[in-house]
Amino acid sequence: MTKRILLLHGPNLNLLGTRQPEIYGSATLADINAAAERRLTPYDVELRCAQSNHEGELIDRLHEARDWADGVVFNPGAFTHTSVALRDAIVAIDLPVIEVHLSNIHGREPFRHKSLLAGVCLGQIAGFGPDSYILALDALLRRWQLPRD
Ligand code: DQA
Repeated sequence: MTKRILLLHGPNLNLLGTRQPEIYGSATLADINAAAERRLTPYDVELRCAQSNHEGELIDRLHEARDWADGVVFNPGAFTHTSVALRDAIVAIDLPVIEVHLSNIHGREPFRHKSLLAGVCLGQIAGFGPDSYILALDALLRRWQLPRD
């Protein structure tokens, strides 16, 4: 049975590659999505990628995922630190969601140390640049114990 993953990117992540490269690196969002796709090639997994700068649209994407996805890899950007609504959405959809950050939010400004979302996610991966996404995908693959094609 094919597994399906939503790779969801929050606000300002459309600017990756040019946005504060000293913190977020030089990879673009397209690079990250392509690397995710490559990681899943040996497996019977379908990946769908989406990005939005809008909290409500991210909530809509999560709600829709309930109808088709088996898991979600989510970089909520700054909404990580502010959004009770996204937290409630993650609880509501009852899917495994892994919170991802390019940077190590725990080593940055104090307001970034707190995630309102991590406690309702399967787990959080932060600080490994684009590899954070790959590690999150690996966590889902291991959870599902998927054989390679
Ligand atoms: C981020 C960390 C957040 O604190 C920040 O607001 C972002 C990116 C990361 O991937 O490191 O937009 O989620």
